[in-house]
Amino acid sequence: MTTTRPGEDPSRRSFLKRVTAFGATIMAAVIGIPAIRAFLSPAFRRLAPTRWIKVGEAAQIEPGVPIRFDFSETIDDAWVETRALRGVWLYTEDGDEFTIYNGQCTHLACSYAYEEERGVFHCPCHHGLFDLKTGAVLGGPPPRPLDTLETKIEDEYLYVAYRTFRAGIPDKIAVG
Ligand code: FES
Repeated sequence: MTTTRPGEDPSRRSFLKRVTAFGATIMAAVIGIPAIRAFLSPAFRRLAPTRWIKVGEAAQIEPGVPIRFDFSETIDDAWVETRALRGVWLYTEDGDEFTIYNGQCTHLACSYAYEEERGVFHCPCHHGLFDLKTGAVLGGPPPRPLDTLETKIEDEYLYVAYRTFRAGIPDKIAVG
Protein backbone atom coordinates (compact mmCIF):
# COMPACT_ATOMS: atom_id res chain seq x y z
CA MET A 1 0.00 0.00 0.00
CA THR A 2 1.30 3.47 -0.91
CA THR A 3 1.58 6.04 1.88
CA THR A 4 1.11 9.66 0.89
CA ARG A 5 3.01 12.13 3.03
CA PRO A 6 1.22 15.25 4.19
CA GLY A 7 1.34 17.88 1.44
CA GLU A 8 2.39 15.38 -1.26
CA ASP A 9 0.38 15.22 -4.46
CA PRO A 10 -0.64 11.53 -5.05
CA SER A 11 -1.10 12.03 -8.80
CA ARG A 12 2.47 13.40 -9.09
CA ARG A 13 3.83 10.37 -7.23
CA SER A 14 2.06 7.86 -9.48
CA PHE A 15 3.17 9.81 -12.55
CA LEU A 16 6.81 9.52 -11.44
CA LYS A 17 6.33 5.79 -10.84
CA ARG A 18 4.95 5.31 -14.34
CA VAL A 19 7.80 7.31 -15.90
CA THR A 20 10.36 5.25 -13.97
CA ALA A 21 8.73 1.96 -15.01
CA PHE A 22 8.59 3.10 -18.65
CA GLY A 23 12.28 4.09 -18.57
CA ALA A 24 13.24 0.75 -17.06
CA THR A 25 11.29 -1.11 -19.76
CA ILE A 26 13.01 0.85 -22.53
CA MET A 27 16.45 0.22 -21.00
CA ALA A 28 15.74 -3.50 -20.66
CA ALA A 29 14.69 -3.64 -24.32
CA VAL A 30 17.72 -1.66 -25.53
CA ILE A 31 20.18 -3.84 -23.61
CA GLY A 32 18.30 -7.12 -23.61
CA ILE A 33 17.11 -7.63 -27.19
CA PRO A 34 20.56 -7.57 -28.86
CA ALA A 35 21.98 -9.75 -26.06
CA ILE A 36 19.19 -12.31 -26.37
CA ARG A 37 19.52 -12.29 -30.16
CA ALA A 38 23.27 -12.92 -29.91
CA PHE A 39 22.97 -15.74 -27.38
CA LEU A 40 19.88 -17.51 -28.64
CA SER A 41 20.86 -18.17 -32.22
CA PRO A 42 23.35 -16.89 -34.75
CA ALA A 43 20.54 -17.26 -37.28
CA PHE A 44 19.06 -14.01 -35.93
CA ARG A 45 22.26 -12.03 -36.25
CA ARG A 46 22.46 -9.47 -38.97
CA LEU A 47 24.97 -10.74 -41.53
CA ALA A 48 27.62 -8.55 -43.05
CA PRO A 49 26.97 -7.65 -46.71
CA THR A 50 28.31 -10.13 -49.28
CA ARG A 51 32.06 -9.77 -49.71
CA TRP A 52 33.13 -10.79 -53.22
CA ILE A 53 36.79 -11.84 -53.18
CA LYS A 54 38.69 -12.02 -56.46
CA VAL A 55 40.31 -15.47 -56.64
CA GLY A 56 42.01 -15.41 -60.04
CA GLU A 57 41.63 -15.75 -63.77
CA ALA A 58 39.21 -18.63 -64.31
CA ALA A 59 41.04 -19.97 -67.38
CA GLN A 60 44.28 -20.28 -65.39
CA ILE A 61 42.79 -22.62 -62.79
CA GLU A 62 43.93 -26.14 -63.49
CA PRO A 63 41.07 -28.69 -63.69
CA GLY A 64 41.23 -31.71 -61.39
CA VAL A 65 43.63 -30.11 -58.89
CA PRO A 66 42.31 -28.58 -55.65
CA ILE A 67 43.91 -25.25 -54.83
CA ARG A 68 44.11 -23.51 -51.49
CA PHE A 69 43.54 -19.75 -51.72
CA ASP A 70 44.33 -17.53 -48.71
CA PHE A 71 43.50 -13.89 -48.27
CA SER A 72 43.10 -11.40 -45.47
CA GLU A 73 40.21 -9.10 -44.78
CA THR A 74 39.51 -6.21 -42.45
CA ILE A 75 36.82 -6.70 -39.83
CA ASP A 76 35.17 -3.70 -38.19
CA ASP A 77 33.69 -4.67 -34.83
CA ALA A 78 32.18 -1.50 -33.39
CA TRP A 79 35.35 0.18 -32.03
CA VAL A 80 38.01 -2.26 -33.15
CA GLU A 81 39.39 -2.88 -36.64
CA THR A 82 41.24 -6.19 -37.05
CA ARG A 83 42.76 -8.18 -39.92
CA ALA A 84 41.70 -11.81 -40.27
CA LEU A 85 43.40 -14.47 -42.35
CA ARG A 86 40.86 -16.45 -44.40
CA GLY A 87 41.20 -19.53 -46.57
CA VAL A 88 39.15 -21.40 -49.13
CA TRP A 89 39.67 -24.48 -51.29
CA LEU A 90 38.65 -24.33 -54.90
CA TYR A 91 38.13 -27.15 -57.30
CA THR A 92 37.00 -27.52 -60.87
CA GLU A 93 36.49 -30.73 -62.77
CA ASP A 94 36.24 -29.17 -66.22
CA GLY A 95 37.29 -25.51 -65.99
CA ASP A 96 33.66 -24.35 -66.34
CA GLU A 97 31.99 -25.23 -63.05
CA PHE A 98 33.81 -24.18 -59.89
CA THR A 99 33.29 -25.42 -56.36
CA ILE A 100 34.70 -23.38 -53.51
CA TYR A 101 34.68 -24.57 -49.91
CA ASN A 102 35.21 -22.47 -46.82
CA GLY A 103 38.66 -23.48 -45.52
CA GLN A 104 37.40 -24.23 -42.01
CA CYS A 105 36.41 -27.75 -40.97
CA THR A 106 32.71 -28.01 -40.08
CA HIS A 107 33.52 -29.81 -36.83
CA LEU A 108 35.47 -27.23 -34.79
CA ALA A 109 36.73 -24.89 -37.52
CA CYS A 110 40.31 -26.16 -37.86
CA SER A 111 42.06 -25.69 -41.20
CA TYR A 112 42.13 -28.84 -43.27
CA ALA A 113 44.42 -29.92 -46.11
CA TYR A 114 44.26 -31.95 -49.29
CA GLU A 115 45.76 -35.43 -49.11
CA GLU A 116 46.86 -36.27 -52.59
CA GLU A 117 47.48 -39.98 -51.94
CA ARG A 118 43.94 -40.65 -50.80
CA GLY A 119 42.33 -37.89 -52.88
CA VAL A 120 40.44 -36.47 -49.89
CA PHE A 121 40.48 -33.44 -47.62
CA HIS A 122 41.84 -34.33 -44.18
CA CYS A 123 41.37 -32.32 -41.01
CA PRO A 124 44.28 -32.97 -38.64
CA CYS A 125 42.45 -31.90 -35.46
CA HIS A 126 40.18 -34.96 -35.10
CA HIS A 127 40.84 -36.72 -38.40
CA GLY A 128 37.75 -35.59 -40.24
CA LEU A 129 37.70 -36.68 -43.90
CA PHE A 130 35.81 -35.00 -46.74
CA ASP A 131 35.17 -35.88 -50.35
CA LEU A 132 37.07 -33.68 -52.81
CA LYS A 133 34.25 -33.23 -55.35
CA THR A 134 31.21 -32.96 -53.07
CA GLY A 135 32.61 -32.02 -49.67
CA ALA A 136 30.65 -34.94 -48.14
CA VAL A 137 31.87 -36.34 -44.82
CA LEU A 138 33.77 -39.59 -45.37
CA GLY A 139 34.93 -40.13 -41.80
CA GLY A 140 35.50 -38.62 -38.37
CA PRO A 141 33.31 -36.34 -36.28
CA PRO A 142 32.34 -33.47 -38.65
CA PRO A 143 28.54 -33.07 -38.43
CA ARG A 144 28.01 -31.82 -42.01
CA PRO A 145 29.77 -31.57 -45.38
CA LEU A 146 32.24 -28.80 -46.12
CA ASP A 147 30.56 -25.42 -46.49
CA THR A 148 30.30 -24.42 -50.13
CA LEU A 149 30.45 -20.74 -51.05
CA GLU A 150 28.74 -18.79 -53.79
CA THR A 151 30.90 -18.11 -56.85
CA LYS A 152 30.68 -15.94 -59.96
CA ILE A 153 32.77 -15.19 -62.99
CA GLU A 154 33.07 -11.58 -64.04
CA ASP A 155 35.35 -10.30 -66.81
CA GLU A 156 36.93 -13.77 -66.89
CA TYR A 157 37.87 -13.65 -63.20
CA LEU A 158 36.55 -16.05 -60.59
CA TYR A 159 35.09 -14.50 -57.43
CA VAL A 160 33.92 -16.07 -54.20
CA ALA A 161 31.36 -14.68 -51.77
CA TYR A 162 33.16 -15.35 -48.51
CA ARG A 163 31.12 -16.32 -45.45
CA THR A 164 31.81 -18.07 -42.18
CA PHE A 165 29.44 -20.66 -40.73
CA ARG A 166 28.71 -21.99 -37.29
CA ALA A 167 30.88 -25.02 -36.56
CA GLY A 168 29.85 -28.21 -34.79
CA ILE A 169 26.20 -28.45 -35.84
CA PRO A 170 24.46 -30.36 -38.66
CA ASP A 171 22.90 -27.22 -40.18
CA LYS A 172 24.80 -24.74 -42.32
CA ILE A 173 24.14 -21.40 -40.63
CA ALA A 174 26.05 -18.31 -41.73
CA VAL A 175 27.41 -16.21 -38.89
CA GLY A 176 29.59 -13.73 -40.72
S1 FES B 1 38.01 -29.74 -36.24
FE1 FES B 1 38.10 -30.95 -38.02
S2 FES B 1 37.69 -32.93 -37.35
FE2 FES B 1 37.54 -31.74 -35.55
